[in-house]
Amino acid sequence: MRSKRLLIVGAGQEQVPLYRLALDMGLSVTGSDQNPGAPGFAFADRVLIASTRDPDATVRAALASHGERPISGVITIANDAPVTVAAAALALGLPGVSLHSARIAANKRLQYDLFRERGLNVPEGREVESPEDLDAFIGRSGLPVIVKPTDNRGARGVFRITRRSDAAALFARSRAMCDEGRVLAQKFVEGDQVSAEGLVLDGEALIAMFSGRNYEYLDRYAPHVIENGGWLPGRFSAGQAQAMRAAMQSAAEAMGIENGPIKADLVLSGGQVTILEVTARLGGGYAATDSIPIAAGIDLARQAILQAVGEPVRREDLLPKPGQPVAIRFFFPEPGLIESVSGYEELSRHPWIVLKRLSLGPGDAVQAVTDHTRRGGCVMTVGATIDEADARARQAVSEVIFNTRRPGGHDGPV
Ligand SMILES: Nc1ncnc2c1ncn2[C@@H]1O[C@H](COP(=O)(O)OP(=O)(O)O)[C@@H](O)[C@H]1O
Ligand SMILES: [Mg+2]
Repeated sequence: MRSKRLLIVGAGQEQVPLYRLALDMGLSVTGSDQNPGAPGFAFADRVLIASTRDPDATVRAALASHGERPISGVITIANDAPVTVAAAALALGLPGVSLHSARIAANKRLQYDLFRERGLNVPEGREVESPEDLDAFIGRSGLPVIVKPTDNRGARGVFRITRRSDAAALFARSRAMCDEGRVLAQKFVEGDQVSAEGLVLDGEALIAMFSGRNYEYLDRYAPHVIENGGWLPGRFSAGQAQAMRAAMQSAAEAMGIENGPIKADLVLSGGQVTILEVTARLGGGYAATDSIPIAAGIDLARQAILQAVGEPVRREDLLPKPGQPVAIRFFFPEPGLIESVSGYEELSRHPWIVLKRLSLGPGDAVQAVTDHTRRGGCVMTVGATIDEADARARQAVSEVIFNTRRPGGHDGPV
């Protein structure tokens, strides 16, 4: 392994654990990011200055670097850049998800049409081309309805339309957040929101963990659809887990993913599994590096790295083992200018905190929560039960006080 080199696409805070892990595995690391000051670069001995959203720039920089320091594998985490990863792997002749699969992962319209054609269970929906067209869709499907840009991510431009919404305005905002200017409308599927993450190994989708997602802020941040963490393992029956595994296998086959990471958003309504979206990469929220190893006994990020650099991956290393329940929650400071943050460092006194991150501090402006990039950091906790882990995560969040000066000039703790 010492002679192998991994290219990690993206060098932001959420990618840092992957850089650390790669070094720990004895690999050399090349990092890419458009920001020369990206924190992950501290762990890389070669850096490529290229946007993770720019496959061509990344490929050019990777090819130039490859000539001097050959790269053995390409990967990313917590960054929706499957096309950049696939393009780099292809250009360097390395293992990875095909460009075709990556493009389906990155475009909600292509993916929705493909899944529907293959008979997978997806929400009732279609592309809508105007506010009138959206009205017609709503008239047929009933509210609530979700609109989303076909090529964005991180909940940007995803709106939940209810009786109280101005549907035409939300249509326009959603379309404005789409590079290709297209909007997908879907019936909002009621049920438990679930995140699934794992590795496809020789065509078999081995899902390391199905976790529950916390959507308690659906009303608070309406019309935005903002997730406030979740819990692992999710609370499912064996039959429900079986149905979700089957759905993930079908999705991997439809997308043509033979080997590589897979991550999905699902909704479970009784025994019925609806596929919201599937992508061909490791997800965010420190799942593959932290919570999945604790909750499922699978070092998913390590296995994904092994696979990316062409080292053998053993199936048994991807099968869940008994673990400890984990919960994660995010900080949502009030909009304004942060004057101070208290209680954060003190969280370390709790033995049940396994990870904490703060992405905003004094002097930073907090903007309104419109998508997942606007969160202020997170805490991850363990407990004897899911309920205990979750109660601890709630407690930890409440112990951190952001003192913000509101734009209107009023101060106050929030
Ligand atoms: N049809 C739907 N029914 C219920 N919830 C949905 C639906 N579409 C999206 N959502 C919710 O909105 C979130 C963001 O939408 P998603 O399609 O996953 O886009 P993104 O790429 O921004 O994550 C989903 O994770 C899910 O919680
Ligand atoms: Mg999603």
